[in-house]
Amino acid sequence: MRLVNRSMVTIDDLSNEEIEAVFSLADEMSDSMNGQSNVCQGKIMASLFFEPSTRTRLSFETAMHRLGGNVISAIDVNATSLAKGESIADMARVVGSYADIIVIRHPWEGAAKVTADYAGVPVINAGDGSHEHPTQTLCDLYTLKKERQTIKGLRIALCGDLKYGRTIHSLIYALTRLGATTFLWPGSGLDMPEHIKQKLITEYGADVEKIPADTLPSLLVGREDLAVDTSLDAIYITPSRAHQLALIPDISIPIDLVKEYDALYITRLQKERLAATTEAQDLKRDYPVVDRKLLKGKEFKRTLVMHPLPRIDELAYEVDADPRSMYFKQAARGVPIRMALIALLLGDKEVDIPDKEVPPIQKRAYPLYRRDSGISCPNLNCVSVQETETRYMKPEFEIVTNEPLTLRCVYCEHEVRPKYIASSEWHQGMLKSKKYHSAHSHLVRRIKPENLIIFNSESEAQAHGFKPSNYASKR
Ligand code: NCD
Repeated sequence: MRLVNRSMVTIDDLSNEEIEAVFSLADEMSDSMNGQSNVCQGKIMASLFFEPSTRTRLSFETAMHRLGGNVISAIDVNATSLAKGESIADMARVVGSYADIIVIRHPWEGAAKVTADYAGVPVINAGDGSHEHPTQTLCDLYTLKKERQTIKGLRIALCGDLKYGRTIHSLIYALTRLGATTFLWPGSGLDMPEHIKQKLITEYGADVEKIPADTLPSLLVGREDLAVDTSLDAIYITPSRAHQLALIPDISIPIDLVKEYDALYITRLQKERLAATTEAQDLKRDYPVVDRKLLKGKEFKRTLVMHPLPRIDELAYEVDADPRSMYFKQAARGVPIRMALIALLLGDKEVDIPDKEVPPIQKRAYPLYRRDSGISCPNLNCVSVQETETRYMKPEFEIVTNEPLTLRCVYCEHEVRPKYIASSEWHQGMLKSKKYHSAHSHLVRRIKPENLIIFNSESEAQAHGFKPSNYASKR
């Protein structure tokens, strides 16, 4: 199998078999670390880290050095022309003409996709805002696989900042695809974003269900020292029907809530993503903590304690000596995993696909909405709404469903449910029929995706010369 010239922007850029293939090559490489120094000889990796990083950057750079390649790097946005107002597209074109592969970390969601669209060389996303961090997920899955031999059927609790944590977002997609059951234990106010839960349902056929907090072994139960939010819910995801659409949760699936957990994956509060310091203070107060006391619970007897690191207060140092702690292993495994990935994307290695346990994910193809006028992405941190990028980039959305009309930004994957629609076809040459309608009217099914025009407000539709139809006010 060859992955040459491919990019890895999201975890979905690798199929389940390709992930397995990266793992086999990582195994092979870690068995002979010193024997890999010819693999990428003469190749150059650009390492662009526009957000703080220790593990990810240094493990990528170590990986390239171990493969015999060279590294060029930029680690401060203020030391690059981005600070002068250069677009990501221009930077990508230029760096792509110097390097054979680019690794980028950037605070804007979708920045890695734009880099991949313009660089002309493989691009690896090392974290784009709160969106994704797919290579951390490879390290996490590799650790689970090493410790438990399989991912299918594992019971994994994701805990902490599920809202802003990009490692969590890539991880839950992969775990669901690979057949694990995931329990979500967010810190209060840090729930998994709705668009991610929707994607788990529509793309992976997951069942997503709320469970009252008191039926779960909660991280906060029995913690008199913490402010317990009794309204906390947990959500479990059972990928019971991997390749079907399951819009209605299947409540018939029996979930044994008191069974042991295979892994407890905790993350720090992503305070750099929070708007105000007061918000940070509030969220910090109720933040879950994994410590020796919690791990005494019988459901955690054999639980692997995982963390992408860095940790702050959510994971007690007293757990480090516990054989269940995995976080330093996760970090160490970053080197062979990233060596394998770089070598495959550069075409310097090929691998056999191992036996298929789980069929590959079928990526669904949705019609695209791409127009100058009309809606833009509602996520202020999305690359597509940044001043430097709107000079050349149009907002672009997948039309995920008509009922209700739902668009997914192709850059950051946030969803938007527009209010008004019109057709570019019906009014041609006939100004009086230049009408707009409610997005909730039946006309949403009549207008072909290629003719669809979307407006956020009536005033916007009117500014474009459209008049309200009889169906403009339907809610
Ligand atoms: C994570 C990140 O940058 O998203 N760190 C990492 O790469 N291991 C997690 C974090 O910063 O909390």
